[in-house]
Amino acid sequence: MTAPAGNIGRVLVDADQLAARVRELGTQVTNDYGGRRLLLVGVLKGAFVFMSDLAREIRLPVEIDFMAVSSYGASTQSNGVVRIVKDLDIDIAGRDVLLVEDIVDSGATMEYLLRFLGERQPASLAVCALLVREGAKTDNIDYVGFSVPSDFVVGYGLDVAEHYRELNTINVFEPATESSGLA
Ligand code: IMP
Ligand code: MG
Repeated sequence: MTAPAGNIGRVLVDADQLAARVRELGTQVTNDYGGRRLLLVGVLKGAFVFMSDLAREIRLPVEIDFMAVSSYGASTQSNGVVRIVKDLDIDIAGRDVLLVEDIVDSGATMEYLLRFLGERQPASLAVCALLVREGAKTDNIDYVGFSVPSDFVVGYGLDVAEHYRELNTINVFEPATESSGLA
């Protein structure tokens, strides 16, 4: 895929801050689930880095599974219509499920997934989001890493047109302006 028009901008969250926060979240989850066996469900692809680090900071037996969803519409904006691209392999009935997401922006994806998974009668269903957009509705999110401003962000799993997932920091992505594209 060709590189998206634009540049990597300033670091919003550096690698040390990410590691420290993920460790805190892992400790919180460990304490909250008191020895129970947990099923982590990652939302592909953005959550893959966060989930692999989080899983190793949780001192409980965990199983992992993934779902993939796509929202119709422009790549940097969700229009609220969510479609399941890959369903779970594991039956979640009676399980303690922690849904792991990269970023909650409008909240549409999370709301849809909570309804979709809730119908399968898990013993419990909670949400851990690495990032939450400032001003987003967060009452259905149990664990939040960081709150971020309205800028589009990339790195640590998050992409723009499949680029920059491998960065070990969270950066602002600065889309090219129309004039710079014509230069
Ligand atoms: P929501 O349904 O509006 O909450 O959108 C959530 C999804 O949109 C996330 O799982 C990401 O895949 C994507 N997304 C939203 N904002 C960003 C961003 O700033 N960078 C990268 N992906 C984003
Ligand atoms: Mg996503």
